[in-house]
Formats: sequence, C-alpha cells, structure tokens
Amino acid sequence: MHLNTLKDWSDTDVRETVENCLKIKNYPEKYRHAASGLSLALLFQKTSTRTRCAGEVGIVQLGGNAHYLDWRTTNFGLADLSDEIKVLSAYVDVILARFLKHADACKAVEASDVPMINGCCDRYHPTQGLGDLMTIQEHIGRLDGVKVCFIGVHNNVCNSLISAGMKVGLKVTVIAPEVNPAAIDKELWSDAEKTGSYISIDSDTIDCKSTLQEIIADNDVVYTDTWIDMEFFTDPDFAEEKERRMKLMMPYQLNSSLLNGLDCKIMHCLPAHRGYEISGELLDDPRSIIFDQSENRLHSMKAILLKLLGRI
Ligand code: CP
Ligand code: NVA
Repeated sequence: MHLNTLKDWSDTDVRETVENCLKIKNYPEKYRHAASGLSLALLFQKTSTRTRCAGEVGIVQLGGNAHYLDWRTTNFGLADLSDEIKVLSAYVDVILARFLKHADACKAVEASDVPMINGCCDRYHPTQGLGDLMTIQEHIGRLDGVKVCFIGVHNNVCNSLISAGMKVGLKVTVIAPEVNPAAIDKELWSDAEKTGSYISIDSDTIDCKSTLQEIIADNDVVYTDTWIDMEFFTDPDFAEEKERRMKLMMPYQLNSSLLNGLDCKIMHCLPAHRGYEISGELLDDPRSIIFDQSENRLHSMKAILLKLLGRI
C-alpha cells in the first residue's frame, strides 16, 4: 500500500488513520517501539520544514531511523528515476518523497518495492490532508458535516483537502479565482461534487466583501494557502505571473477586517506569506488553529508511517 493520493485510500483507511493520529498524539509512549529497527528514506526535490521534520522525527520517535536525501547530492538527477527508486527501496522499509511533478511520484510508486508516501507534488499533498482532518476532529469534535471554506488559489493542498474531506463527510467550499494548471483534476472535483462534499463558487459572483463574509460566516473553518507554490515563489521567470496573481488575489486575502465578527477557525498549511494570502495578525488570532495544525503534521505522519509499515 502507498500514499500517493488519497483517492486510492478507502473511507475506512482515512477514518481509522485519523483515529490513530489522535491516539498517537495522546499516548505517544505506547508507540515508542512500534517501528523498531525500520528505516525511512526521505527524498526531497523541493524544500520543506514540516513534512521533512515530521518524517525524520516521527520515525525516530517510533523506534526507527531516518535517512534524508537531498536530490542534488544523490545520483537521482543523473539516472533513471525508476532505477534509483528500486535501489533505494532495497535499502529501506518506506520512502517519503517530495517530487516537483506528480508524474514522477507515480513513476516512483510503480518502481518501489516498499510503500511510497507523496510528501507534496504539484497536484496533491495527501499527508497534509490527513493532518488537516486530525486537526478539525480535534478542534471541532467531528468531521461529518463540518463546513470548510478554502479561499485562495486552487492547488495541491486544496485538492487533498477535497480528497480527504469526501471520505469523511466534510463539506468543502472553494473560492478560487485562479487554479494552478498542474492541480486541475476534473475527475476528483466531479466525484467530490457528486457526494455533496465539494462546491466551487465562481469568484465572478462575489462582487463585494460582504458577499465573501456571508459565505465564510456559513462555515466552521476558513482555510487558505500560498498563491504561488514554493518552486515558483522566487523564480525570476515567474515574476510577471507573481505580480499578476498578487493583484488578482489581494481582495481574497484573509485579514482581520474580512473576518471581523466571524466565529470560524482559521487554518493554513504553512509556510505562510504574511501580508499576502493571510495578514500576519491572523496567525496568532484566538480563532487560529494554524500552529496546532502544523504540530499535528508530526502525529499524523507517525500514524501514516505505521499504517504503511503494517504496524498499527
Ligand atoms: N505544510 C507543509 O508541507 O510544509 P513544508 O513545505 O514545510 O513541509
Ligand atoms: N501549495 C504549497 C504547499 C506547501 C506545503 C506549495 O506547494 O508550495
């Protein structure tokens, strides 16, 4: 079993994993030897704070060991991806990989003899999606029927929120004036729409701040993410597009004025770009569950590792 996209996981897989995330968080000592002697390789083509540390620290806290591979210091860049993954999978018990392209995550899954975890590609971020469900369960006490409004650029995180949410009865409303081309997944969106767990609101119908506020007011959670994915943020070739997006997206920034008087939890997968998709003060607002959300990446990564290693 792999975790490439949550589309491949059953409702039961997702529900049980969320329960395990909370058990592991509340009783960590019970799991101290759960992955004793097992090895995790982390292969990253892009930067990371949370996903990398959750994997490295998580496996060690479970009694296993971690091996971080920076793409540029390996021979992955020189050789055939499938050959190198096959070799790596003979050395370790599970691989957590962050590829630029989803096609490479799929290729790696095909080649690997051990479970592969997609640590965020341009299309999906499934470990984030599971951590988000854990955080919503923890703060709201249930998942079924919880309303989450994602406002921003429709991206990898948004797809995994939809994909995770449809397994557990979340109601995800997306307001996205822009979609990342790599994140277009009409099959996912149509399947999620059919289950009633996903609605996309055409941003052209939002003519003023009060309309946006009315939509948010009808939700339990408001969620945003970067308007520009990490691999493009400082890319000079993306500068013009960055400028265009900033202008287009600024009316959708989460800030105190927009959320004034609204009683909803605030989520962001981090890293946040303060002053862009979210104003700085909202990260520390009493309604923000952002730092619990990021801590939960550790506990949820442990649950994911144990599931894929067959140790839970
Ligand atoms: N949210 C998240 O995946 O963060 P990193 O990019 O720092 O891993
Ligand atoms: N959408 C963001 C997620 C970061 C965890 C990105 O891909 O950069």
